[in-house]
Amino acid sequence: MNFSPLLLLIITKLIYCDERSGRVRRIVGGEPAVPPPEDEPVVFTRFGGKTARVLGVRDFPHYVFRGIKYGLAPVGKERFLRPRQYFLQGFENATQFPPPCVQPVPGEDKVIGKEDCLFLNVFSPSLPTGMEGLPVIIWIHGGGFRYGSASQYGVRQLVGKQVVVVTIQYRLGSLGFLSTGTKTLPGNAGLWDMVLAVTWTRNYIGFFGGNPNNIVVMGHGTGASSAIMVALSNVAKGLTSGIVAMSGSSLSQFATDDAPANTAMDVAEANGCPVGSELTMVRCLQNLSPAAIIKVDSVIEATRLQNRGFVSGLAGKLGSAPVFEGRRDGRSLPPVAEVEPVNDPETSQAKIPLLTGITKDETKRACHGQFRDEITNKLQKVPEFLDKVLVKNLQNAIGISRDKNSTSGKFLNLLDPNQFKNYLQYKRNNIHEGLGKIAEATADALFNAPAFLTADAWSKRGAPAFLYRFEHVGKRRKGFNFLRGLPLVGNNSQSDDVSNDTVSHGDELSYIFDAQDMQGKSLDSDTGNEEDNKVRDIFTQMIADFARHGKLSVEGQHVKPFSITDNNFVQISPKPKVSNGFRYCEMGLWLGLAQRLQSSTCELFKVLDSQLKNIDLGSGTKKLGETITGIVKGGGKRPQDVISKPTGLLSGNKDKKVFGIGG
Ligand SMILES: *[C@@H]1O[C@H](CO)[C@@H](O)[C@H](O)[C@H]1NC(C)=O
Ligand SMILES: *[C@@H]1O[C@H](CO)[C@@H](O)[C@H](O)[C@H]1NC(C)=O
Ligand SMILES: *[C@@H]1O[C@H](CO)[C@@H](O)[C@H](O)[C@H]1NC(C)=O
Ligand SMILES: *[C@@H]1O[C@H](CO)[C@@H](O)[C@H](O)[C@H]1NC(C)=O
Repeated sequence: MNFSPLLLLIITKLIYCDERSGRVRRIVGGEPAVPPPEDEPVVFTRFGGKTARVLGVRDFPHYVFRGIKYGLAPVGKERFLRPRQYFLQGFENATQFPPPCVQPVPGEDKVIGKEDCLFLNVFSPSLPTGMEGLPVIIWIHGGGFRYGSASQYGVRQLVGKQVVVVTIQYRLGSLGFLSTGTKTLPGNAGLWDMVLAVTWTRNYIGFFGGNPNNIVVMGHGTGASSAIMVALSNVAKGLTSGIVAMSGSSLSQFATDDAPANTAMDVAEANGCPVGSELTMVRCLQNLSPAAIIKVDSVIEATRLQNRGFVSGLAGKLGSAPVFEGRRDGRSLPPVAEVEPVNDPETSQAKIPLLTGITKDETKRACHGQFRDEITNKLQKVPEFLDKVLVKNLQNAIGISRDKNSTSGKFLNLLDPNQFKNYLQYKRNNIHEGLGKIAEATADALFNAPAFLTADAWSKRGAPAFLYRFEHVGKRRKGFNFLRGLPLVGNNSQSDDVSNDTVSHGDELSYIFDAQDMQGKSLDSDTGNEEDNKVRDIFTQMIADFARHGKLSVEGQHVKPFSITDNNFVQISPKPKVSNGFRYCEMGLWLGLAQRLQSSTCELFKVLDSQLKNIDLGSGTKKLGETITGIVKGGGKRPQDVISKPTGLLSGNKDKKVFGIGG
């Protein structure tokens, strides 16, 4: 910032005067002094040995502070590395939305955004009153770790429920997540950005009317998996008091890249950087333009999608993403993500409540839309595509162990693959029905099962988890507006024949947020009807209540936390209700819960009793509760529905360990 000496003097004087004049006093309580004008969007902060006067804007009746810097520009030698904290100081002009982080423009050979993008926005219903402060929700946007910005999500509805909302940015693509999987470049820079933003919130939000002891992290898709990873991370211990994870979990396929060295190698090679030594490679990549790196990410994504097939497009995991770094060895700095945290006993003391859920048909629009031709082709040409290829592939994706010593493992080996026949059956010539079956199977395996497993693991650690399914088919279906470019969402809002009975990935977002462009400009006027408005009111109230109390109620009734005996979940619609038996038989099938499939409820699947009697189900399954055993930590194998030969540069080194120790 360039201040003239005169301006600096004025600012210094302003701060000095204000420190004594009651604006600061108003924050910490104390004697009343001359109050500043009621509606002035100005906040005074004091932290890290620095004071600041932060100027925002009114978005009546709320106060909005846009584009607050929380991290120094991660450029040059800082690229790919952990962010460094920025302390608010002097005069901070928070009246303009920040530039987004560098990202591609979907469908164009163009890149937008800045590398200096570690900003956040604060939205507050009221400035500090000397009371405790309002609950705080930190919003981590989704977009497959490649797209999205903090300013894209209009939060007026949520703020109207008397919560402070902080929307944050983090580095995207390889700029945020490039990792060699070794100490040279451990990766997770973007996760560290999120941790820093959460830390910022803890330190500063009191000045903006929020309660630093009541911070909930909330995200969608990759934002949701990140929210869980950040909240359960050792390095963010005690900072948060709840998680809202919409359509994503650290158990989701897209949460991590389990072959980061391969990705790094692809990125380096395609950028013309040497790959012989990790250090030289990283230095080379640090000298490139950010746009070059992000464009190469797009090429890699397209190539992988082409080679691996549509399931990989539905599942994500097509480029640089967070990594599990393994247990801390005690010598180096603590990692942000050691192992998959939901099933990690070491994180089990963190008993913060969780609200998680999915939409009714996560993958349906994609199956009937952008992947329609590919799926149709495979259904027609690949013999027994459903049972032999798809089911195996999705089972691997879920990450259930086939270890013959575990109950689920025994069971899965028994089930695979013929027992899925009744679940997947469709009339041979009815492609529409076939597409529907694939949509159902992929949604169950890639979204419903991770949500179910997450809620179950949560309840087993003795913390409350609430599960929802968003079912409202309304006019405001705008997943496309928020997540354009994501393979799962596509680049076309119209191309399908299933629009009017489908609630796919991201469609629920418009029942919380107003769609805006990357720079915060409103995208379109609202087209919701009365029912839509009602759903929006119900959903935002639910989230605000959860943030405030860590509990959920529906129509005035408290909701019991999820348990695997009830499989209870909230159906979100204009008439929300609590139901039991969340995808009861389908989860039984995918997760190897034998007892369910033997029950009369699941007769439809016709799993043969005679076969089941032959396996020893172990003591865990005899009781009411069913035991899910053998989830492979760190997620399953990456989906790849047609085994294709490696072709050329970008796919030549798949599944090889690329780097030797120390390069
Ligand atoms: C804040 O920044 C905006 C945009 O750069 C500028 O138009 C405005 O004058 C600035 N406000 C102050 C008080 O400096
Ligand atoms: C939309 O995506 C498809 C591939 O999924 C691509 O072929 C097409 O060019 C894209 N169209 C636009 C307008 O972005
Ligand atoms: C399964 O159990 C047997 C006997 O307890 C043991 O020897 C074997 O190593 C186990 N196999 C696996 C894959 O854990
Ligand atoms: C969806 O809308 C179209 C045109 O508005 C209509 O013809 C069709 O029957 C509708 N489908 C469903 C399932 O409601």
